[in-house]
Amino acid sequence: MANIFPRWSNLLPLKIAVCAGTAAAGVALAFTYYATPKALVTGYQPAQPIPFSHKIHVDQVGLDCRYCHSFVDVSGHSNVPTGSTCWNCHQHVQRESPKLAPLHRSMDTTYAGYDGKPIEWVRVHKAPDYVYFNHSAHVNRGISCQSCHGNVNKMEVIFQANSLSMGWCLDCHRAPEKNLRPLEEVYNFNYNAETYISNNPQLGVTTTEALGLKLKEEFMVKPKETCTTCHR
Ligand code: HEC
Ligand code: HEC
Ligand code: HEC
Ligand code: HEC
Ligand code: HEC
Repeated sequence: MANIFPRWSNLLPLKIAVCAGTAAAGVALAFTYYATPKALVTGYQPAQPIPFSHKIHVDQVGLDCRYCHSFVDVSGHSNVPTGSTCWNCHQHVQRESPKLAPLHRSMDTTYAGYDGKPIEWVRVHKAPDYVYFNHSAHVNRGISCQSCHGNVNKMEVIFQANSLSMGWCLDCHRAPEKNLRPLEEVYNFNYNAETYISNNPQLGVTTTEALGLKLKEEFMVKPKETCTTCHR
């Protein structure tokens, strides 16, 4: 089928801004762009109230993403866990660590500074309000967190690994086979397509490209590229 969404369309927002924008709109656009660059910048890594390490909890302790981000495969939105998820373990483990003071303040009724308020994590990934995004639509169709968020299992402090720009979304929507995984491998951060192929000769594929195309056919994946997919 013809590619109805050609590559130059990556520049479309810019063209729209340049062609259609009045001077005032242009100023407003420039202002919002320069006033809010942090949340869109690759590498954005704000300090968090507790120095929470994904490396420790995922690689060392061995927790699955869904233990804490429990809605990611059932809802459009991926939640950040509440203090009670942490407290399940930390009322026993490393209880006296000074790093956990904000957790005691939120959860520990015996703590002098207890106020019961939620921990105020600083949000890292944020699409603009006019963009519709949906987590479960991706992870339940063979797209791993790793493809979008990078090697979270190695991050001491979480940071934005990809631009989250429209061009970035569309690159994958045009060729999802490069990122498709068997569903049981979506949360496995040590996944390696070549190893998977050699362990599963019954699939009858020998290259990672062939595996991607096979999964695309099997899942009947066909990501949309029309404007209303992401702008509703
Ligand atoms: C023990 C609980 C826990 C586990 C397990 C966990 N996370 Fe997190 N995650 C958190 C907390 C707490 C935050 C918010 C604090 C921070 O950003 O470090 C967070 C933040 C994030 C963010 C950034 C959110 C934002 O503000 O944009 C991403 C992305 C993320 N986690 C992905 C993952 C992935 C992928 C896995 C599995 C490999 C995972 N997490 C496993 C607790 C967890
Ligand atoms: C399943 C149990 C478990 C859960 C849930 C859990 N942790 Fe941990 N956490 C651990 C273990 C085990 C260690 C210690 C690892 C080590 O000593 O190497 C640890 C270490 C830490 C440390 C480092 C402490 C220090 O002084 O070095 C911090 C900070 C921390 N966790 C914060 C959190 C936060 C915040 C949450 C909730 C978002 C959370 N943990 C959820 C088990 C857990
Ligand atoms: C297709 C790309 C993609 C995949 C796959 C993906 N994410 Fe995200 N994630 C995003 C985008 C884009 C945002 C910002 C969404 C927004 O602002 O509405 C985000 C935001 C988040 C947030 C912050 C939400 C908040 O309100 O603070 C967390 C936590 C998160 N992702 C965790 C995960 C986990 C865990 C997985 C895997 C189970 C995952 N993501 C898979 C693209 C992805
Ligand atoms: C790594 C690949 C990849 C990336 C990156 C990606 N997507 Fe997707 N997207 C997919 C796949 C695969 C599907 C599922 C298509 C299907 O079900 O046929 C999908 C589906 C969707 C859907 C349809 C959900 C529904 O309700 O039907 C939306 C909306 C969407 N993506 C938005 C985005 C946005 C916005 C971004 C960028 C912030 C993005 N995607 C980045 C691969 C990706
Ligand atoms: C797969 C998801 C997706 C599709 C499809 C999509 N967009 Fe976007 N669009 C985004 C994301 C994500 C952003 C915000 C990030 C950015 O500015 O690159 C965005 C931003 C924009 C902006 C604002 C740019 C700016 O700099 O403020 C315009 C205008 C826009 N899109 C127009 C369109 C039009 C027109 C179409 C259809 C031809 C379209 N989009 C299709 C995901 C998408």
